[in-house]
Amino acid sequence: MNKCLICFSPIEPFMSFGKMPIANGFLSPAQFSSEYFFELKVGFCPNCKMVQLTEQVDRERMFHESYAFFSSTSKRMAEHFKGFAQFIMSNYLKSPDPFVVEMGSNDGIMLQHFANVGIRHLGIEPSANVAKVAIQKGIKTVSNFFDEDLAHKIVAEHGQVDAFLGANVMCHIPYIHSVVAGIKILLKQDGVLAFEDPYLGDIVEKTSYDQIYDEHAFYFSLNSISYLFEQHDLEIFDIIPQGVHGGSMRYLISHKGARKVSDVVAAQRAKEEVLGLHRLETYDRLRRNIECSRDELMATLCDLKKQKKRVVGYGATSKSTTVINYCGITPDLVEFISDTTPIKQGKFSPRAHIPIRPYQDFTEDYPDYALLFAWNHGDEIMEKEEKFKKAGGKWIVYVPKVQVLE
Ligand code: SAH
Ligand code: TMP
Ligand code: ZN
Repeated sequence: MNKCLICFSPIEPFMSFGKMPIANGFLSPAQFSSEYFFELKVGFCPNCKMVQLTEQVDRERMFHESYAFFSSTSKRMAEHFKGFAQFIMSNYLKSPDPFVVEMGSNDGIMLQHFANVGIRHLGIEPSANVAKVAIQKGIKTVSNFFDEDLAHKIVAEHGQVDAFLGANVMCHIPYIHSVVAGIKILLKQDGVLAFEDPYLGDIVEKTSYDQIYDEHAFYFSLNSISYLFEQHDLEIFDIIPQGVHGGSMRYLISHKGARKVSDVVAAQRAKEEVLGLHRLETYDRLRRNIECSRDELMATLCDLKKQKKRVVGYGATSKSTTVINYCGITPDLVEFISDTTPIKQGKFSPRAHIPIRPYQDFTEDYPDYALLFAWNHGDEIMEKEEKFKKAGGKWIVYVPKVQVLE
């Protein structure tokens, strides 16, 4: 029986994606025989309503000195994080010498905006290669996993924080109680925790099941997040939906009673009730929708293969690992995946072993179809790839539904 990582009640598994590799584990042929697999399975906790993985991968297998995800590869995300930083600076850094900590600061995509204007800051980033990029940009970063122990050390060395930030990292951490306890210690009395992650409501509405992979231990709703933070005497005082990563939610949290709670919080709770995020049936429906999406995508790809069309993947995203391996996409259906990240190029996709090639291989010999694995950057990519369309190229997308864009 699996126990909830938040409230320790039994959870209800609602879907298994079968045997999965590490989503960001792009590999060379020499590594094929030692590839690591686990069962990717998600469950719902009827007590605290948290959706979560039932089996966790050790953090050192995912976050290390060869981590493949560099945040700054997307221009749109760079703009987004500039906005996030400005939002914090203009609203929450009122003290004379404010101090900001970011967990999962990666290559410094957000923290650079604080560093550039001389605000005291510290990035906590366990993946040493991406942390190094940030340090080279002049951003103070320690290569470590954030938890309660580290919080004590940071307070002793630097004092408490005005703002504690995180983007696409809180949902990565199964030992989340230790992280929240650490944040509680670090926050000044009027300090603010601001973090954002993909939002469960969007995953359910758009059947964006590719958000489900090893790194994402949790799929947050306002309801489940409120439960977690209440356990630590912290309170959500505002939330702001974000368009990035296919629909995210920014949560603003303070010590209980320290700030006025916005009406938006109650309104969102009501929306979640309507969406049924608190009911197991919603996740049974999600599973059926995922199965339909898989069948439609495979029918499309098999049909194109019969017609001898060339199909290339666009963006070797971590999300694509779930889609490729759950659906059973093989190199005879998708010739290669184009990606702009140097560390991924020349390698092969996890488990299915589809080659990852540099972006030039896509532009120099356009395929008939491009399967948009990086659909969350769709606007940015479509704008950039006008020439592909003019050359007769077509996009295949699968979120919110499988479609060939004519
Ligand atoms: N914030 C960036 C990076 C997200 S990827 C963005 O939104 O683009 C998640 C990052 O969290 C990785 O760089 C990973 O190394 C880091 N991470 C994982 N566990 C962590 C922990 N316990 N403490 C701090 N960072 C962690
Ligand atoms: P993400 O969805 O996890 O942010 O990853 C995006 C991946 O897509 C990353 O490996 C970079 C790649 N990518 C491209 O190859 N071209 C692009 O134009 C964009 C925006 C991303
Ligand atoms: Zn629970």
